[in-house]
Amino acid sequence: MKKYKRHLITSALPYANGPIHIGHLAGVYVPSDIYTRYLRLKGEDVISICGSDEHGVPITLKARKEGITPQEVVDRYHYLNKKAFEDFGIAFDIYSRTSNKVHYETASAFFRKLYDKGEFTEKMSSQYYDEEASCFLADRYITGTCPFCGNENAYGDQCEKCGTSLSATDLKNPKSTISGSAPVLKETLHWYLPLDKYEPWLRKWILDDHTEWKSNVYGQCKSWLDQGLQPRAVSRDLDWGVPVPVEGAGGKVLYVWFDAPIGYISATRELTPDWEKYWKDEETRMIHFIGKDNIVFHCIIFPSMLRAEGSYILPENVPANEFLNLEGDKISTSRNWAVWLHEYLEDFPGKQDSLRYALCASAPETKDNDFTWKEFQAHNNNELVAILGNFVNRTLVLTNKYYDGIVPSYGSLNESDTATLESIKSLKEAVESNIDSFRFRQALSEAMNLARLGNKYLADTEPWKVIKEDPERVKTIMYISLQITANLAILLEPFLPFSMDKLRKWICINDLRWEAAGRAELLAPGHHIGSGELMFTKIEDDEVERQIQKLLETKRANMAESAPVTPQKEDVSFEDFSRMDIRTATITEAEKVPKTTKLMKLKVDTGIDTRTIVSGIAEHFTAEELPGKKVSVIVNLAPRSIKGIESRGMILLAEDATGKLVFVMPEKEIKNGSPVR
Ligand code: 2FM
Ligand code: ZN
Repeated sequence: MKKYKRHLITSALPYANGPIHIGHLAGVYVPSDIYTRYLRLKGEDVISICGSDEHGVPITLKARKEGITPQEVVDRYHYLNKKAFEDFGIAFDIYSRTSNKVHYETASAFFRKLYDKGEFTEKMSSQYYDEEASCFLADRYITGTCPFCGNENAYGDQCEKCGTSLSATDLKNPKSTISGSAPVLKETLHWYLPLDKYEPWLRKWILDDHTEWKSNVYGQCKSWLDQGLQPRAVSRDLDWGVPVPVEGAGGKVLYVWFDAPIGYISATRELTPDWEKYWKDEETRMIHFIGKDNIVFHCIIFPSMLRAEGSYILPENVPANEFLNLEGDKISTSRNWAVWLHEYLEDFPGKQDSLRYALCASAPETKDNDFTWKEFQAHNNNELVAILGNFVNRTLVLTNKYYDGIVPSYGSLNESDTATLESIKSLKEAVESNIDSFRFRQALSEAMNLARLGNKYLADTEPWKVIKEDPERVKTIMYISLQITANLAILLEPFLPFSMDKLRKWICINDLRWEAAGRAELLAPGHHIGSGELMFTKIEDDEVERQIQKLLETKRANMAESAPVTPQKEDVSFEDFSRMDIRTATITEAEKVPKTTKLMKLKVDTGIDTRTIVSGIAEHFTAEELPGKKVSVIVNLAPRSIKGIESRGMILLAEDATGKLVFVMPEKEIKNGSPVR
């Protein structure tokens, strides 16, 4: 392999229209962080670049929906995500953003250079225009009837019901989501990057010269290239984005996928005045960490842009991952089907490494994979606590107990001692070669094998028994166990930085170089170690159960949201309606009706009197939470005997498609007994 002088690691810039979730982490940020930390441990010159991708239509749509500006949307998520990454130990050198000045200047200059070199083609095309709002409509701003399945709420780029990709002009009865009016077709000018021109070069660069790329990445590139590349528009009619730096291009901005990857360059400029050496020197090795939906942009479009510009290097590798699902379902920001990083950090304080471990151990490296809370718990309890934590703890406790925390000197080594020391070296090599080829799951598993080896060594040698008859032998056993511990502190640092930081402090080693690992003696006899605490604690069933319940609640809410509304009943006369006497009231007492699951016996102050009403709400409310609740009651419903209790009236409740019940209550404080009509 060519020896490079430095490394430029980029991680896909997440859109600032939602929080970071475990899918982002497993796909992109955990692997890029492991890789960056590894290179740093090796003493390489490396910078890790990331930031928020703050343009694009979903951001403007969200802003419009919430009645705020796009800048307010991106400010909210930029700071939330920046902090969450920091708290999770993702060690970017910079977390920048594409709405800042440096980026506008960089992206603008990049476009302008290509424009001046004549690298773009210009083309007029017809696009939908909203005459009421006086603007062109991006595909997502148009809804209409899908020509394939008849769904009346299909978008201009896709029907979410039947999954078909659409063009806005395919929709029947198109409607602007901005004004609700029917849009008209209008001519507009755009700039195109002629990807077809780069096709022969891309074929050679990827298909011949980068056969070492991961097969999922290589395969996707090949399929794009085999289908033939078309010119790609790099501008849009929108008012949120980097303005097209061409005279007369008012109201047009750079396409988000044109400006976003330039964000890597802008962020590097922001980080260091020396940025050009990272971007323009062939001795820099650039690696893009991304998810599979970003492959075409990082392997075909961005490299073509860089090549057209002419002065930049190209990525050396693009180790994209597949997708992580959650409890058997696709992760989705809009359906709230995710484990959000900022919430995890609140719910599991101090347990960053447990999630880092679980996400790396089941990373979707070669195919989509599933995250489940039960597996997360098992990874933590059966591996981190029972294997790694247990070995380290036993080693530290015994060293303190037998030798007051001083590393003992060793005596003669038997066959198993020598084999154990040899294994440290071979496991280090296995970790290294797997990280070098972006197989982080396997690398982690090899590093954990060192902890397994340590546990087995202690179990086989039983120092706690041998200490009585052969204390000299125990010195050798503990010496070897301590060397394993010190090696773990280095090999696991990229994966479990919080825990290994603690461990290094406990055993007082400062020599944190990758090169040091694999050596037989990291802790010399006579070296003092500290006492240490527990490295990991168990995750209990109730903690995991709470998370599962949270997801079930999301599922329920999504079902209710998408279920059709019950059709209207037959008409009733106004007289019939007027005969019903509905009043505002307050529940004063509640108790469950014994031997029933659904029934609650309530005392209700109706303003007229305080009466007993039996209501089928016991599965939805506890008796404790009911007193004081404001409700509406039909007070002249003929009394009925329910389970031997006379019930006088009925409480009004709204019920959604999943059977969830909520009280129909007055919007403001009003006297009990006020008629509802
Ligand atoms: O897919 C995404 O989340 C994009 N925001 C990634 C952009 S990567 C880079 F090009 F900026
Ligand atoms: Zn459809």
